[in-house]
Amino acid sequence: MKIVGGPSSIDLARKISSALNIPLVNVRTKRFPDGEFYFKFEEDISGEDLLIIQSLYPPQDAHAMELFLILHTARDLGANTIKLFVPYLAYSRQDERYLEGECLSAAMIAEVIETLGADALYTIDVHNENVLKMYKIPVYNLTASGELAKYFSNKNLRDPVVIAPDDEDLARRRAKHAAKVLNAEWNYLEKRRDRYTGEIVTFSKALEVRGRDIVIIDDIISTGKTAANAVKILKDQGADRVFVGASHILLLKDSIKIIIESGAEEVVGTDSVTNEYAKVSVAPIFVRALKGEIEKC
Ligand code: R5P
Repeated sequence: MKIVGGPSSIDLARKISSALNIPLVNVRTKRFPDGEFYFKFEEDISGEDLLIIQSLYPPQDAHAMELFLILHTARDLGANTIKLFVPYLAYSRQDERYLEGECLSAAMIAEVIETLGADALYTIDVHNENVLKMYKIPVYNLTASGELAKYFSNKNLRDPVVIAPDDEDLARRRAKHAAKVLNAEWNYLEKRRDRYTGEIVTFSKALEVRGRDIVIIDDIISTGKTAANAVKILKDQGADRVFVGASHILLLKDSIKIIIESGAEEVVGTDSVTNEYAKVSVAPIFVRALKGEIEKC
């Protein structure tokens, strides 16, 4: 077995390669002057079992095209089996036509990945589990909430409560999973997003958080408004330190600033997205999954 590190996840691929003691395939990549991507295997991969690692964080379209070209080349050159690890599976919001005439982005991504010949897909905290039903190949939705909780367990938390910033089933399951690791209580807030304007409203709710440390666990930080609203509600109710952990910190414009300004102590993400907030690695989660230990919530 060999590992192919895509351009968006090369450091993560190195970590996984060293944890599994499996070599990285030598590849060459570049961008042409007009922006098109070029990919070349620098060694023979025919007959190999490959793990391709490439996260689809912004710029999603560029990272997706890189993944598709690598996958196509691997299959075309005769790889035996191909497993994909795509920690952030972009385009996972649109699993159905919520408004008439909309595109089914998640279905298109699934169709391309399967047509190009992937044999299995591993991802982390997919935004909407329904998108996984669109795949015929085996798909594993792993969670980083346990690893995030382990990170916060080193913060000397006082009587902690884990909070999901919205009441979606997956959000509550992630918070419950993190709470189990921290041996803490958990609860959730309720949030609504306007489908046209994207405006977010989080409803206040009486929570027993006065004088306690809080860990907010979410899948994505995009605009940062969901986390910021939750931090503010918790601080207004007398919470002490409020930490925010998310599997995928997409780092859009002011997102971190508005969360910190709302009173958060620290914002922590994973190396699903390469940025300075990636203080937790998803490598051990994937390594365990390959050995059959699937960490789900
Ligand atoms: C909500 O549905 C998700 O779990 C996240 O809470 C959401 O994507 C975060 O988005 P934003 O940072 O834009 O509020």
